[in-house]
Amino acid sequence: MTEAPWALLAEVTHACPLHCPYCSNPLELVRRRTELTTAEWSRVLAEAADLGVVQAHVSGGEPLLRADLAEIVAAAHAAGIYTQLVTSGLGLEAGRLDELVRAGLDAVQLSVQDSRAEGSDRIAGRPSFAAKEQAAGVIRRAGLPFGLNVVLHRHNLDHIAEIIELGVRWGADRIELANTQFYGWALRNRTALLPTREQLESAKDTVATWRERLGGRLELVWVVPDYYEGVAKPCMGGWGARSITVGPDGAALPCPAAYALPDLSPPNVRDHSLAWIWARSAAFNAYRGTAWMPTPCRECPRREIDFGGCRCQAYALTGDAARTDPACALSPDHRLVRDPATTASRGGPEQNLTYRRPARNG
Ligand code: SF4
Ligand code: FES
Repeated sequence: MTEAPWALLAEVTHACPLHCPYCSNPLELVRRRTELTTAEWSRVLAEAADLGVVQAHVSGGEPLLRADLAEIVAAAHAAGIYTQLVTSGLGLEAGRLDELVRAGLDAVQLSVQDSRAEGSDRIAGRPSFAAKEQAAGVIRRAGLPFGLNVVLHRHNLDHIAEIIELGVRWGADRIELANTQFYGWALRNRTALLPTREQLESAKDTVATWRERLGGRLELVWVVPDYYEGVAKPCMGGWGARSITVGPDGAALPCPAAYALPDLSPPNVRDHSLAWIWARSAAFNAYRGTAWMPTPCRECPRREIDFGGCRCQAYALTGDAARTDPACALSPDHRLVRDPATTASRGGPEQNLTYRRPARNG
């Protein structure tokens, strides 16, 4: 029997004020007029709780662009789900956060793109650092658990100490240092964003030093980079194993990047219950467990540890989501990550950043 999911990623809109070149949203954004209504989100959250979900990340795009966000948070709270807002911070004024706290919001994760305004604004594709700094103060004053998320790449890895200092200064409880995952928009910018091995090694040492220095005062999470370690990550804790993503238009997916998989036909919460989607839909069963695995995963002792890696990365790089993730050194396609990493480490070609287009409002 399929075990219950414990987390829901509620992508309430794809609209976003930022244009990050590593955006993990699909290349084709969902239009605002097709977004789920407040009542539909309320039903989805109640169904999620019935299914066993205990934690929801309310994300986007920028979730604060939904005028009914407090009602969505209230529905999660009423269902007994711990709710974290995942935000760029733009639009997070004290009054808005108060409203969300009254609705039952439990925690906030704020993103920042670099340690200083100039670098952060350049990556975000617009002035935004000052608004983020203000949002950090608002979160701190509200007393909510506060996570800071920073996506790492060639342009900010050398500032890792300053980034950690920023998190300390802003009063974060946790800093997630997330090395860029190269699918979707980030894959288009891979040459511009891929760091050198030296940058990564140095950043890893800095994180270890700071971890010791900070003791338990602040949690530092280092999300392992895919291109240099020769190991596949247990993406999403396994396909259809722990988490459900519901997109702005109600498409339900085992992970947020799975929009890109062409043969998946994601079921929609407008047509099916979340319980049916989780247990019975073809999409959630496609790569569940180990039966689907190709060689070498099928015979590998790590197959129930990393589940063959990331399906979206396998598809993005090989065109076949059912292949071993090329991040794994045992994959017959490993050269697809090794070669670009080698080129980047030799100081390979410069590439201009291609910014995420603004979401269409139609
Ligand atoms: Fe994981 Fe497959 Fe690589 Fe084994 S061969 S380590 S299961 S990705
Ligand atoms: Fe989709 Fe890894 S991002 S399975």
